Amino acid sequence: MLTRADVLAAGGHVESVPSRRILRRVASLFRPYRSQVAVVAVLAVVYSILGIANPILTKTLFDRGLFRPGGHHNLHLVYVLGAVMIVIALLLGAISIWETYLTSVIGQRVMQDLRNGLFGHLQRMSLRFFTSTRTGEIQSRIANDVGGVQLVVTGTFASVLSNVVILAASLGAMLFLSWQLTLLSAVVLPAFVLMTRRVGRTQRRLARETQRSLADLSVITEETLSVSGVLLGKVFDRQRSAIERFEEESERLAGLRVRQQMAGRILVGSMQAFLSISPVLIYLVAALTLSGGTGLTAGTIVAFMVLQTRVVQPMNSLVQSSIDMTASLALFERIFQYLDLSHDIVDDDEAVDVDSERIVGAITFRGVHFTYGDPAAPTTNGAAARDTGWTLRDVNLEIAPGQLAAIVGPTGAGKTTISYLVPRLYEATTGSIAIDGMDVRRIKLSSLARLVGMVTQET
Ligand SMILES: Nc1ncnc2c1ncn2[C@@H]1O[C@H](COP(=O)(O)OP(=O)(O)OP(=O)(O)O)[C@@H](O)[C@H]1O
Ligand SMILES: [Mg+2]
Repeated sequence: MLTRADVLAAGGHVESVPSRRILRRVASLFRPYRSQVAVVAVLAVVYSILGIANPILTKTLFDRGLFRPGGHHNLHLVYVLGAVMIVIALLLGAISIWETYLTSVIGQRVMQDLRNGLFGHLQRMSLRFFTSTRTGEIQSRIANDVGGVQLVVTGTFASVLSNVVILAASLGAMLFLSWQLTLLSAVVLPAFVLMTRRVGRTQRRLARETQRSLADLSVITEETLSVSGVLLGKVFDRQRSAIERFEEESERLAGLRVRQQMAGRILVGSMQAFLSISPVLIYLVAALTLSGGTGLTAGTIVAFMVLQTRVVQPMNSLVQSSIDMTASLALFERIFQYLDLSHDIVDDDEAVDVDSERIVGAITFRGVHFTYGDPAAPTTNGAAARDTGWTLRDVNLEIAPGQLAAIVGPTGAGKTTISYLVPRLYEATTGSIAIDGMDVRRIKLSSLARLVGMVTQET
């Protein structure tokens, strides 16, 4: 077991949140749709069980219908079994269409919830959050990160479930047909499990870097292709450097994407090699045991081969699912990070609604101090506060109802800042601000928004 310090010493990356916690939270996103999820689960199980019927029927069709001991064939049995197999195939098709429909509906709903939740949560963040966060970064989390989990929320859970059932059922059927051949196929499994875990870890790291890169691109675009960005670029002849920055990040993203693809492909590739090589091994073992007289029939061998492809396929998909899942954990982590941001300016428990009709509009500032820095850091007593730099220091003012008041001062004096404090766009660090003698913190934010109008100097 590596400790955090070991990982840091090795220059490695420390996973910020345990995967299990994120997984549990992802699972909770599906809670509103449990009935649909249950239907999908039933469909997946039925699908998987019907899926092994055909190989078993194939064995009977071969050994009892086509190549009966004694040389005759039983055409009637071939017709009947053939018809059953066709019906099963059609049923399988229908079930898979229904399942796909349900899983994509569930997945899209989950994404919709995430998107709306994120948007609603960010809407209520204070101005401080937006002035200290890069604009493109926020857009990137809503667009790229929520978009990125689509693959996982639409279908991964259904595919994991059906693959586990298929795997179990197929292994059971293989054991039933010949335990020797099953054993032969099973020895390779542990190697794949180990490899999957390694690839998964790499994938999660790459995914995290990719989302960061996407966000950076988004930020550069926002900064340089907005009206003010283009204006600055043209006036100061900064276009060349903007293009270079964009191209550099774009190249990094391309590299990351390639590495992401490759990490998954190597695993899938070796699975496919196994799929092609193993029939040869089976022929070999079959030949050896045939001479030993264990009674393997041609039907058993054919059925076994069909089953074996049905083991490798779900194993392949399970590996792929686990790669997708680990990669998407990084995305979920970023989304949850934003959802967990606390709102620093909220309604007090005792905040009241105020009728705007009854407000005459007297504004009072009493000993107001304010800093854009960490509001927890400076204090009013002692020299420390002066050093940390108040934007507003001990502001006292009284504006009578109906009075037209103008605040005059050099740029950066804090005029705009004073206006921000009245509708609580920022919170006074100390001191109090009152409208008609009522502290603004005691008035509901929605009322306050109705009471205070504002035209910014940017408009
Ligand atoms: N979001 C912010 N984060 C950190 N510091 C800020 C922020 N907004 C303003 N400041 C700083 O606070 C001080 C007061 O800014 P403010 O915008 O209130 O000045 P102002 O009097 O309105 O100036 P102007 O006449 O240029 O509009 C300035 O030093 C400014 O740099
Ligand atoms: Mg101003």
